[in-house]
Amino acid sequence: MIRSIAEPSSRIRAMAHDDLSMVSDIERRSYEFPWSHGVFRDCLLAGYHCVVLERDGRIAGYGILSVAAGEAHILNLCVDPNYRSLGYGERLLDAILLQARSAKVREIFLEVRPSNVTALALYRKKGFHKVARRPAYYQATEGREDAAVLAKKLISYDR
Ligand SMILES: CC(C)(COP(=O)(O)OP(=O)(O)OC[C@H]1O[C@@H](n2cnc3c(N)ncnc32)[C@H](O)[C@@H]1OP(=O)(O)O)[C@@H](O)C(=O)NCCC(=O)NCCS
Repeated sequence: MIRSIAEPSSRIRAMAHDDLSMVSDIERRSYEFPWSHGVFRDCLLAGYHCVVLERDGRIAGYGILSVAAGEAHILNLCVDPNYRSLGYGERLLDAILLQARSAKVREIFLEVRPSNVTALALYRKKGFHKVARRPAYYQATEGREDAAVLAKKLISYDR
């Protein structure tokens, strides 16, 4: 495909330790209660599937997936506030779902704040549905906020 000169180039690749300062910066600008740099480092060290979306050499978003015993869990999915509504969140989610399918995962889960209407719209669009509620799961400005647990069944390509 021929791209126009003005169109930024973007790709999804594995997250590296050198990415963590940019990733943490996006995290701090995106969440009221952000993960620390150390949490991202631990995800890499634990061997979780960590990906970034790079746009013209800068990180525009990231996703983190853990896989165990035939189940997967999306631990984080985030796009730089400057680059939202450009389709990057959906591309990152597609990449994560592909990794989960490659790992022969049968079902994929995530937690989301019920107040996060944007993320809920994205997950519903991609076929996730609510399966449970975890009371007082999230830190909130006043007290705690419940989490909605969403899930999607997957069929591996090579089964
Ligand atoms: C949720 C998030 C990742 C979406 O990323 P994004 O790149 O802006 O989303 P996309 O452009 O790929 O949009 C994909 C879908 O998301 C939903 N969506 C995106 N922006 C939306 C908005 N402003 N309002 C409502 N729905 C929206 C739509 O369903 C959209 O599909 P459509 O374009 O066909 O309508 C992004 O808003 C984000 O990083 N939020 C902060 C971090 C966060 O809350 N992460 C989820 C934690 S569980």
